[in-house]
Amino acid sequence: MTITVPRNATATPIAEVLENRWSPRGFDATHEVSEEQINALMEAARWSPSAFNKQPWGFIVGRRGSENFSKIFESLAEFNQLWNANVSALVVALARTEIDGEPVVNAHYDLGQAVAHLSIQAETLGLQVHQMTGFDVNKIAEQFVLPAGYAPYTVISVGQHADNESVPEKIRERDASPRVRNDLDQVLLSFE
Ligand SMILES: Cc1cc2nc3c(=O)[nH]c(=O)nc-3n(C[C@H](O)[C@H](O)[C@H](O)COP(=O)(O)O)c2cc1C
Repeated sequence: MTITVPRNATATPIAEVLENRWSPRGFDATHEVSEEQINALMEAARWSPSAFNKQPWGFIVGRRGSENFSKIFESLAEFNQLWNANVSALVVALARTEIDGEPVVNAHYDLGQAVAHLSIQAETLGLQVHQMTGFDVNKIAEQFVLPAGYAPYTVISVGQHADNESVPEKIRERDASPRVRNDLDQVLLSFE
């Protein structure tokens, strides 16, 4: 679907890439993400800032049709499985919560920021991502030999939005529903 107006009704102008970023559930089953695009997503994450530059993150990538994809897909909650068969890639985002036996207190904050950078890079490449906590961490741990200190935190769908018959009706309706956010005055806390 071609977007002719910004996806998000922002209260004040913001960067176009942020204005148009969103998380669809309807994805194009024929779209394939290239290795170059995956590398660009990883590179964007790699260059995000982190406390003490510890870079406490790691990613497992599975492109649709690969063994990794099947393993990650199997870990998804039932509702998420409903719309993820069409996505071009599934990525497990892992927080490195421990380095040399020491806890990394900012690991989840830093991972979230790395994924935010990844999602903006995706938008710039004409792709969309959708983050999910609806998956079974234990299934990921059973399917992959995870390095010590790394904990799966989210699974990220990567692909291109589609709004056609290949997308379940329920999902299309959900994608078309109004997008809402808290008002700016609820974000900008004032104590005056
Ligand atoms: C950390 C995180 C976990 C989420 N988990 C799920 C999920 O398991 N399933 C799902 O359909 N959406 C999930 N979402 C998406 C949100 O429910 C919601 O669709 C999103 O905030 C909409 O924002 P956007 O369209 O502006 O990106 C998750 C989002 C985030 C950031």
